[in-house]
Amino acid sequence: MEKKSLFPVVNGLLHGGDYNPEQWLDRPDILEEDIRMMKKAGMNSATLGVFSWSVYEPFEGEYNFKWLEDIIDNLYKNGIYTILATPSGARPAWLDEKYPEAMRVDCYGHRNHHGARHNHCMSSPVYREKVSNIIHRLAERVGKHSGVIMWHISNEFGGECYCPLCISRFQNYLADKFDNDISKLNHAWWNTFWSHNYNRFDQIEPPFINGETTSMGLSLEWKRFTTWNMNDYMKSEIKLLKNLTPEIPVTTNFMQFYDELDYNVMADEIDVISWDSYPHLHNDYESLCKTMTNNSFYHAVMRSMKKEKPFMMMESAPGLVNWALYNKLKRPGIHKLFSMQAVACGSDTVQYFQWRKGRGSFEQYHGAVVDHLGKDDTRIFKEVEELGASLKKISKTAGTIIEAKAAILYDWDNKWAIGNMKGLSENTKNYDIVCTDFYNNFLRLGIEVDVIASDRDFIHYNIIVAPMLYMLRPGVADRLKAFVNKGGQLLATYLTGYVDIDQLCYLGGFPGDGLGELFGVISEEIDTLYPSDSNSAEFKDGSSGSIKDYAEILRVNEAKVLATYGHDFYKGTPVVTANTYGKGTAYYVGARISDNKIHDILIEMAEKTNTEHKKLPFGIEYHKRTANNENYEFYLNHTEDVLTVENVTGINLLNGKDVDGILELGKYETAVIEF
Ligand code: GLA
Ligand code: ZN
Repeated sequence: MEKKSLFPVVNGLLHGGDYNPEQWLDRPDILEEDIRMMKKAGMNSATLGVFSWSVYEPFEGEYNFKWLEDIIDNLYKNGIYTILATPSGARPAWLDEKYPEAMRVDCYGHRNHHGARHNHCMSSPVYREKVSNIIHRLAERVGKHSGVIMWHISNEFGGECYCPLCISRFQNYLADKFDNDISKLNHAWWNTFWSHNYNRFDQIEPPFINGETTSMGLSLEWKRFTTWNMNDYMKSEIKLLKNLTPEIPVTTNFMQFYDELDYNVMADEIDVISWDSYPHLHNDYESLCKTMTNNSFYHAVMRSMKKEKPFMMMESAPGLVNWALYNKLKRPGIHKLFSMQAVACGSDTVQYFQWRKGRGSFEQYHGAVVDHLGKDDTRIFKEVEELGASLKKISKTAGTIIEAKAAILYDWDNKWAIGNMKGLSENTKNYDIVCTDFYNNFLRLGIEVDVIASDRDFIHYNIIVAPMLYMLRPGVADRLKAFVNKGGQLLATYLTGYVDIDQLCYLGGFPGDGLGELFGVISEEIDTLYPSDSNSAEFKDGSSGSIKDYAEILRVNEAKVLATYGHDFYKGTPVVTANTYGKGTAYYVGARISDNKIHDILIEMAEKTNTEHKKLPFGIEYHKRTANNENYEFYLNHTEDVLTVENVTGINLLNGKDVDGILELGKYETAVIEF
């Protein structure tokens, strides 16, 4: 694998963040300080112009870019590159006043008032035209500047629009999808139910909250359409930029746990994946270790969308955030640990929101590298500075990637379908948590794992886990069979293969679409447990695992039974099975079983396929980045204890020390071992 540096002009990793100099144009002294302090903090990038439209174009057709040009110039002269945003994330007042159709309509059918941000109609031609105009001017003015290394499209795309224009686009989208044949849609959505049949596509309304919220098909297609329409909007910006400055890569910043857009679809349109990582550190409901490993799952989700190159952590909080229920300070040492985690997981950047706290308005108390105090000797500044120095020490890792032999299947529309379905319990469906827990089980074994959509290639993997793959995309069942047939190890759980992509249930037994043959089991019923209920899985070797939330009652055909239920009226019936299929094995885990047993099954799967795994002390996160025959192993200590890891050899780039066998890591310490 060749090293794939995201920014060839930058020698190493990017360290930077959102910079809003337009808030300080009347304070040249502060702008000058910014440059001095950025250099001191070891920063080599700044993200400009995310919300600058009303300064760029204070009145329609009157432009003001000189300040931007000066700032980009000045940054560049000081070794700081610019990531330049398109300003479409927030609109100037004049625009909404003159063209109210740019404002979104909510799920009651009410047009928004002007204000806040991230709330334009994706379909509005006039909005697209105004955006196109400002992007043209921006790109012409500064797009060719040597300091500009990337376009940051808009900001954190999200939300929906229920305006007449979006509705009519939705209707066209459906007509297209169902070959202009309303009977196909009626069948796919099972519309004879409750007299839901439509006569024409133009009768179909989106799922207004006071309208049709009970049609599974409608709800799912509306979500798919919203992704399609958002993507269409994003593509309109990208197309412009590719014409104006073809050599500059584009990205848009994705959000953590944002459910409403299928990022896999949008990922195909951008050059680099970037995302904003804001885990709830130091909360009162889980250990720091858990928060960190959950965050690692999201790095993996993002990394895996373009796993052939590094990704970017576009935003993170250098200190606290301002929007949590309780805005707790980041404890000393955590900033470095958290930032190193991003790099360990394959990010070539550590970037912040925000460089400097503003004096006023909504985010005036959001954490920043520079506080209202304005000094470079604050705790936060010093931690950022220390990190900057560390990032320089590991600059060789830039351009390397993670090569995983295991994958977790994770589909946004599967998540939507599980969310839509009635049955089970709304409190415990927990698709994301279940996928994250599987990821964490791999992490404990030091096995790198991609988190991929089910229609991506399976060719790279020895092991695939498909948690709660309720909805099967076309062809997935056959591809899973082929994967196992060739020697792959597959694990699926309760709630696999109940419905097709229209959410129509498979007849003849779950898992459907032929998966019953692969697993050698049929699930006949699923029991939803109350939080106070529990069951157990009793394994043949005498070990057992606890069961909560969901338990399927299985009919076993040819599969081998590994465990049976310990309680209830289905006591003694199978809960975990393994089926040999061709050269591989298909495991079926029919209930939500505790991690200790999942762990054992994953080890078995790794051993059968010679997939490298490790014995890591609890609290150590491990990753390996590689390319050009260079190898960098990252060990992160998520705990306050001194921990030791065995069998580590190489040089620790962070302290220059040779490690020969035992690696000792202090509280929250990271080691980056080159070998
Ligand atoms: C998001 C936005 C930023 C800022 C931060 C605050 O990530 O992109 O503009 O509002 O949240 O955490
Ligand atoms: Zn709209």
